[in-house]
Amino acid sequence: MKRTKIVDLLSSTEYGKEVCVKGWVRTRRGSKAVNFIALNDGSTIKNIQVVADVEKFDEELLKQITTGACLSVNGTLVESEGAGQSSEIQANEIEVLGTCGADYPMQKKGQTFEYMRQHAHMRLRTNTFGAVFRIRHNMAMAVHQFFHERGFFYFHTPIITASDCEGAGQMFQVTTKNLYDLKKDEEGKIDYSDDFFGKTTSLTVSGQLEGELAATALGAIYTFGPTFRAENSNTPRHLAEFWMIEPEVAFNDIHDNMDLAEDFIKYCVRWALNNCQDDLEFLNKMVDKSLLERLNFVVDNDFVRLTYTEGIEILEQAAKEGKKQFEFPVYWGVDLASEHERYLVEEHFKKPVILTDYPKEIKAFYMKQNEDGKTVRAMDVLFPQIGEIIGGSEREESYDKLVARINELGIPMKDMWWYLDTRKFGTCPHSGFGLGFERLILFVTGMQNIRDVIPFPRTPKNAEF
Ligand code: 4AD
Ligand code: MG
Repeated sequence: MKRTKIVDLLSSTEYGKEVCVKGWVRTRRGSKAVNFIALNDGSTIKNIQVVADVEKFDEELLKQITTGACLSVNGTLVESEGAGQSSEIQANEIEVLGTCGADYPMQKKGQTFEYMRQHAHMRLRTNTFGAVFRIRHNMAMAVHQFFHERGFFYFHTPIITASDCEGAGQMFQVTTKNLYDLKKDEEGKIDYSDDFFGKTTSLTVSGQLEGELAATALGAIYTFGPTFRAENSNTPRHLAEFWMIEPEVAFNDIHDNMDLAEDFIKYCVRWALNNCQDDLEFLNKMVDKSLLERLNFVVDNDFVRLTYTEGIEILEQAAKEGKKQFEFPVYWGVDLASEHERYLVEEHFKKPVILTDYPKEIKAFYMKQNEDGKTVRAMDVLFPQIGEIIGGSEREESYDKLVARINELGIPMKDMWWYLDTRKFGTCPHSGFGLGFERLILFVTGMQNIRDVIPFPRTPKNAEF
């Protein structure tokens, strides 16, 4: 018999029908006469109840039905009498596909997230992680749907690259050489000429630079892929390997860019509210009691927009009046810390905030320079609980200004020739941003640690599984 997924069985009213269900045992309880098995196959957070009359089955077989074991059950779909479930299965045949011993690491309920991380290969079987990863899938679908509906093209940028987009020097090197065998030149510098690519290469920190090439040809594109940063930040919001979505649009200025960012996030959150109800209700109950309220709030309210300079004034005022004590000092020019961003969002405005026009010293070389000579047309979207969820800007489209900035920062020009060609041949105003996919998932699930919204997190000193 062909198996039916539990999500379909639970919504079926074909009572009396013979069905086959397969899945993993969550619990088994019962009396001398009858056993109740809660079975889950990952298609939904909900379990289906399998009712097994003890007299029909071998005692040895029933003993093997322990938490975590995998079963195939043939039985009759019946309307459930128990509260809180629509249908259940009266078992006729049970086959144990895989037994599961007492050393199963997900045996006990209520383990800490830290414990779960150490068993990340098995945590996928739990309710919480099932919910998180079904939502993660849904958010990926929402991303593609949003851009596809708006005529953007999904553009694949390389993962191995020879340029550092953000200029922060946080790149993982790619080489096929044993590092001890690398040739050195007369000055003692490593000579990569006989390495695989014949030069220094790394894993990309961002697909933006290639994305700009595409936007100035196809008009509007987005990337959605893994990015890598060797920043030694052991925080609940940083990963060494994370996924980023980067739209880039010809002829958009910073205001269009802000509109796009706001529409995009709201679309994704609305998608979750419409398509992930069961999982969100579970997370709202078990992980974060104000989750649904926060998601609805973001969808229903406009984001606040102000400049970095105005933001600094608010923070300085708060510090001066003793409304808030910050660990890190606030002054014009400072790269905002998470506590500053969260004060603006969570305490001052109580809304998502888009900050614009940051000092050029704390932003990347490619951002459009303002007339004041001090600031650039950057925009960061700041979110409750998360801090920065999006970073973007209008791009510097003037060849001369861009080259001047590249020289000022001492970025090796020879690595940049192809990028500069966009400004040389038919340059145009354009803008884009990057959304950290895991930061979006953190927000939508209410989870507290970014390690718990990517299946197998990569962080300093951790590359298990
Ligand atoms: O602000 P960032 O560094 O911007 C860029 O990479 C631009 N090239 C984007 C663009 O304009 N096309 O990163 C963008 C976003 C951040 O706002 C944050 O959400 C996420 O990427 N992010 C990280 N997420 C997890 N772990 C990290 N280490 C992250 N670093 C950035
Ligand atoms: Mg940023």
